Amino acid sequence: MTTTIPALGLGTYGRTGEEGLAALLAALELGYRHLDTAQSYGTEENVGEAIRRSGLPRDEVFVTTKVADTNLSRADFAPSVRQSLDTLGLDRVDLLLIHWPSERDQVPFEDYMTALGQAKAAGQTRLIGVSNFPIEHLKRARALLGEDALATNQVEIHPFLQSPTLRDFARSIELPLTAYQPLAKGSVGENETLREIAAGHGVTPAAVALAFLLAEGHIVIPASGSRANLEANLRARDLKLRPEEIDAVRRLDRGERRIDPEKSPRWDD
Ligand SMILES: NC(=O)c1ccc[n+]([C@@H]2O[C@H](COP(=O)([O-])OP(=O)(O)OC[C@H]3O[C@@H](n4cnc5c(N)ncnc54)[C@H](OP(=O)(O)O)[C@@H]3O)[C@@H](O)[C@H]2O)c1
Repeated sequence: MTTTIPALGLGTYGRTGEEGLAALLAALELGYRHLDTAQSYGTEENVGEAIRRSGLPRDEVFVTTKVADTNLSRADFAPSVRQSLDTLGLDRVDLLLIHWPSERDQVPFEDYMTALGQAKAAGQTRLIGVSNFPIEHLKRARALLGEDALATNQVEIHPFLQSPTLRDFARSIELPLTAYQPLAKGSVGENETLREIAAGHGVTPAAVALAFLLAEGHIVIPASGSRANLEANLRARDLKLRPEEIDAVRRLDRGERRIDPEKSPRWDD
């Protein structure tokens, strides 16, 4: 059984319909063993179906889903988790996240964080965590649920948004960050520094970006609908960057946040 979060997972945003299912099946065939879905992506059904069609034992695939910010209230939280499990066709997920904190505490923080802990206690998930949580929210969560309660905080991180303040805090409390949109939606492919490093290793700039994030201690969940890109991205697991290459990628940070909806909390970086 997978007891920790596999460091390189697959984002499933947008992988709906037959085409999406084919991409998920290709990923499992290539060796991906961690699928990241959410109530709001419309991909929970495909994730469950891909696992069943792959023939892989359930315990070999790590599944994350996220409770939408529209389902955080006491009345909606638990039914939404039951609905996720039904849609996935699974008895439990491996990781359940709060997708976004409630905007301006419209739903009391204690209500949904307590409900998250209860989902774990009920065996609906093995691990719990959060997403899009700044430091202040992480501190509140730890005070409420305990210092070791959270398995990860999933946030936007890529070479152009390295979030040093949040990164250093997370390190200080030994909380792994999961880097979403780790390829900056594919734009890492156009960066000259990444291209040069990639050429030296015979890999793609995307693999360099992922290897850098893994070296920083992050979990990564790149997405792709292309078999060639899925395969190329997996190569990041075996790619060891030299210290000077890591330094060069660190210098690419320019605070470029791509996902910043109105409901966002006040970011640390
Ligand atoms: N928690 C949250 O609030 C949150 C927010 C956003 C995303 N996420 C999660 O993070 C996952 C990843 O984020 P994302 O899908 O937005 O962005 P991403 O992984 O940074 O980028 C995906 C894009 O990059 C392209 N790409 C993939 N591999 C490539 C390669 N080797 N070379 C060139 N281009 C490549 C893909 O195109 P092709 O399909 O053509 O390969 C796709 O257009 C999502 O699927 C979702 O699971 C979470």
